[in-house]
Amino acid sequence: METIRGRASLELTASDFKRTVAGYEQILLDLGTGDGRYVRWMAEKHKERFFIGVDACRENLRDNSQRKLSNALFIIANAQALPLELNGLVSHITINFPWGSLLESLLNTNDPLISRLASIARPYAGMEIRINGEALVTAGWSLELGADQIEAILNANGWRSTSRSWMDAPVLRSFPTTWAKRLAFGRDPRAVQLKLIREEDSATDLHGCARIAELARNELNDQPTGYPRLIR
Ligand SMILES: C[S@@+](CC[C@H](N)C(=O)[O-])C[C@H]1O[C@@H](n2cnc3c(N)ncnc32)[C@H](O)[C@@H]1O
Repeated sequence: METIRGRASLELTASDFKRTVAGYEQILLDLGTGDGRYVRWMAEKHKERFFIGVDACRENLRDNSQRKLSNALFIIANAQALPLELNGLVSHITINFPWGSLLESLLNTNDPLISRLASIARPYAGMEIRINGEALVTAGWSLELGADQIEAILNANGWRSTSRSWMDAPVLRSFPTTWAKRLAFGRDPRAVQLKLIREEDSATDLHGCARIAELARNELNDQPTGYPRLIR
């Protein structure tokens, strides 16, 4: 897989990758990471977890990827063709303010991205998707109907919704990504946040329940101040 640190791009073999993430119980993946600010912020805050930022575009990643963080890695890849080495590894997926083909894939029934997300996710993995109004309008959807469509597709593919909340300008301002801050001061500072959990057939067994409870505990620790209120 192709990784990036600063201006240098580095091909990582499957065994190098395994060694890099060995020892981390939780591996979080930020898809469409942009300039990687969110990954850097999270990796500095949670040294005990490993963070992977993925984006198709390398230019914006130069600054944040050059910081020496032993628990972070930046991969250059298309969301629709995520490296196979990620299969079954990821305990939490975030997709913050997708646009372009990443957003299109989330809106399309039967898109290959949806099955790739299932392949990389561990049982009971968490997922957080934040989508902004303007990106959805550009893709031909209203904020509410676009969020409904993405949620319905994920629900039909083994992801159970746990919450939906709105993000307004103050919430966007306090959210630690570059795009959130840009949106907060833009002309349409509205976004929706969906949280989901990967369900397995055995979701009712005791192990499953314990795992879901553990994920819920971890999630609360991640909330920056001024986090969006729960509306359902
Ligand atoms: C609006 S930016 C958001 C960046 C970052 N998540 C943030 O909140 O600051 C959307 C990002 O999605 C990436 N993207 C769009 N389509 C993609 C695809 N098919 N695969 C990987 N990345 C993609 C773009 O390169 C861009 O960096």
